[in-house]
Amino acid sequence: MSPMPSELVIPVALGDRAYDVVVSPRPLLALAEDFLQTQPTGSAVFVFDSNTHVWAEPLLQTFQAAGWSTIPFVFPPGEERKNLTTLHDACRSLMHQVVDRQAIILAVGGGVVGDLAGFLAAIYLRGLRWIVAPTSLLAMVDSSVGGKVGVNLTQGKNLVGAFHQPMAVWTSLTTLSTLPQREYRSGLAEVVKYGMSLDGGFFEWLENHADAILRRDPEALLPMISRSVQLKAQIVAEDERETTGARLKLNFGHTFGHGLEAATRYLDWLHGEAVAWGMIKACRLAERLGRFSSTETDRLIRLLDRFGLLTVLQVVGPSWADSVIKCMQSDKKRAAGQWRFVLPVRIGDVAIVSGVSESDVKAVLVETK
Ligand SMILES: NC(=O)c1ccc[n+]([C@@H]2O[C@H](COP(=O)([O-])OP(=O)(O)OC[C@H]3O[C@@H](n4cnc5c(N)ncnc54)[C@H](O)[C@@H]3O)[C@@H](O)[C@H]2O)c1
Ligand SMILES: [Zn+2]
Repeated sequence: MSPMPSELVIPVALGDRAYDVVVSPRPLLALAEDFLQTQPTGSAVFVFDSNTHVWAEPLLQTFQAAGWSTIPFVFPPGEERKNLTTLHDACRSLMHQVVDRQAIILAVGGGVVGDLAGFLAAIYLRGLRWIVAPTSLLAMVDSSVGGKVGVNLTQGKNLVGAFHQPMAVWTSLTTLSTLPQREYRSGLAEVVKYGMSLDGGFFEWLENHADAILRRDPEALLPMISRSVQLKAQIVAEDERETTGARLKLNFGHTFGHGLEAATRYLDWLHGEAVAWGMIKACRLAERLGRFSSTETDRLIRLLDRFGLLTVLQVVGPSWADSVIKCMQSDKKRAAGQWRFVLPVRIGDVAIVSGVSESDVKAVLVETK
């Protein structure tokens, strides 16, 4: 591989809503300073949770030192806070400050912060500009790119939301230094998903760099995160609002994964852990339908094992099959009564397959491999 570039800028080609994702080993403050040099001063609202406070606070101070008025909005971490109550609290706290339509919202955190802050930016005063500084691996490779923003209802996840593209994404690898290992591994499942569904060469690169990736070596993080962002950006540019079906490919492993998350009431497994399991089940289903070879599934299993993502396969046995199927029915309802599975064709390519029978789905759920 060529010497590591110091940073990569990945364009998200969306016409007048285009923006760049900067993926950099430089500190977050350095990325902010580049921006501050080009902008007139104004007001900035910083949205973060109490874990990402360590990254947001110095950023806020840098803006202040540059003459900006700054407004913090902090909330407790956790998916259960990504709701209308937190959004309402945020709107109220902005009402008490001078936040006009020129203000910028800065989201500093994982996917929960990004989704909430982005939705706040989409609706407050009918829309403000926003910048996202993702601090979890999942947010860096997935949720920060593509402009899908929103909150959960008690009836289900992400049911209220919008498409609202950010003006920039600042991905500083340094912020991963405080991310708990379980969260980091969970984010790796989404990275593996890109390899499986879109880029076999990337999958192989992950196999060859697994140790450096687990050490969070910047020389591995930079290409790993940049390639994931490039792949996501390409799909988003093709299918910004999920109308052509291209974006569906990113759901590889997610039909089963969402079923498991819902069956366990989002309590037992992190999203990536459920997706890792879901990718294996999708491969087994494809094998059953004669579309995929078991030696390829074994390759996926070996990589997930190296990333510490096989626990869920060992723990979730046949007794879960019925409750997972029941939860998967809601996906079916949304697709006019038919399951639409994203199934592998080969490592690096997937196909959307409709009309899979419940007995085939159940058969792979009761398997323990
Ligand atoms: N909008 C999209 O396109 C999209 C795509 C995928 C996922 N999502 C959403 O993203 C969310 C999941 O994202 P997530 O896994 O980042 O969850 P998260 O934001 O809850 O972060 C996971 C945990 O890590 C903590 N954390 C984050 N960065 C940290 C850091 N650098 N140091 C220490 N702690 C840190 C958080 O406080 C939290 O406790 C879900 O709500 C999901 O719906 C959205
Ligand atoms: Zn996902």
